[in-house]
Amino acid sequence: MATTIERATETAQAHDTFPINGTDYIEFYVGNAKQAAHYYRTAFGFQLVGYRGPETGVRDRASYLLQQDKIRFVLTTPIRPDLSDEAKTIADHIYKHGDGVRDLALWVDDARDAFEKAIERGAKPVHEPKVLKDTEGEIVIAAFQTYGETIHSLVERKNYKGLFMPGFVPLKQHYNPPPVGLKYVDHCVGNVELGKMNVWVEFYAHVMGFRNLLTFDDEDISTEYSSLMSKVMANGNDRIKFPINEPAPGKKKSQIDEYLDFYQGPGVQHMALATDDIVQTVTVLRDRGVEFLAAPTSYYADLQKRVGRIDEPLDVLAALGILVDRDPDGYLLQIFTKPVEDRPTVFYEIIQRKGAKSFGKGNFKALFEAIEQEQAKRGNL
Ligand code: FE2
Repeated sequence: MATTIERATETAQAHDTFPINGTDYIEFYVGNAKQAAHYYRTAFGFQLVGYRGPETGVRDRASYLLQQDKIRFVLTTPIRPDLSDEAKTIADHIYKHGDGVRDLALWVDDARDAFEKAIERGAKPVHEPKVLKDTEGEIVIAAFQTYGETIHSLVERKNYKGLFMPGFVPLKQHYNPPPVGLKYVDHCVGNVELGKMNVWVEFYAHVMGFRNLLTFDDEDISTEYSSLMSKVMANGNDRIKFPINEPAPGKKKSQIDEYLDFYQGPGVQHMALATDDIVQTVTVLRDRGVEFLAAPTSYYADLQKRVGRIDEPLDVLAALGILVDRDPDGYLLQIFTKPVEDRPTVFYEIIQRKGAKSFGKGNFKALFEAIEQEQAKRGNL
């Protein structure tokens, strides 16, 4: 158990190739953005704040901008894939991957400089910096490729005072379910093929200057049936944390293999959204229909012994299925949803950090057993 911590303290400092202020937005390509927006509003408490589509002069696709505190999701669907290459690309993405994350967009101060440096260091360009203008100012945006068909847009918004970016119009709605207390994106996890984890670790280290914050090998993360390996890459201010997983050989198919089969390749596995009150947030999410993985009943029996004193009553955590882990800096509470679509691909983590900077390693075994029970039900174990 101590090996992870020792390795973490040995890691080098990050030397950011370009400064990143945080996650700007996460864009999903989805089959029906109108209905997906309804789901994220009703179930997850996002507010619908902006829209771009035929009514605003975009003929081939529609995008809904959802927001909850610092978290911004953009849900985009093609409505006329025959009208443009861009809309066809979106349609192809959905055909291949199902609903999934296309863009983990990064908020930067100078998108031209960031793009130039990333490309110089070997990133594959998606599009060159372009300037989007309206009466509120201008946005500069460029993009490069990461694992699978996922991209990182670089968004410079220091000369923009509008809602989000040119093209989006504000929306006022009659239906506004209240937020559930989600605050910011804590980390976004990618699944890549066997043997590719270190390729992408090297990409984030070399192209972005990220450091390897933590390493989990298959001895840390294994159950009777399957295992995986994971390395967490982080930028200098720790606002961007990208764990990268790859499958490790087990007796049966690992959860990462299942994802890779159904997503048809590498992609974003889960996004961790932070709250200041996980008991309240999870209570509301459950009431609104979000389904969570259940912890094994044995999990809470020795929890106190493992994590020591915590502020939250154990019976409340047990009733909700919230997991707890401790590291030298404090403790964290976390819970994982079931996949949010029919393909067993994308899911969410709800996390509350009380000092802890790690990722819940002490929960991996319990968590993976819960995931495997679900996999077995799908016939994929
Ligand atoms: Fe996570």
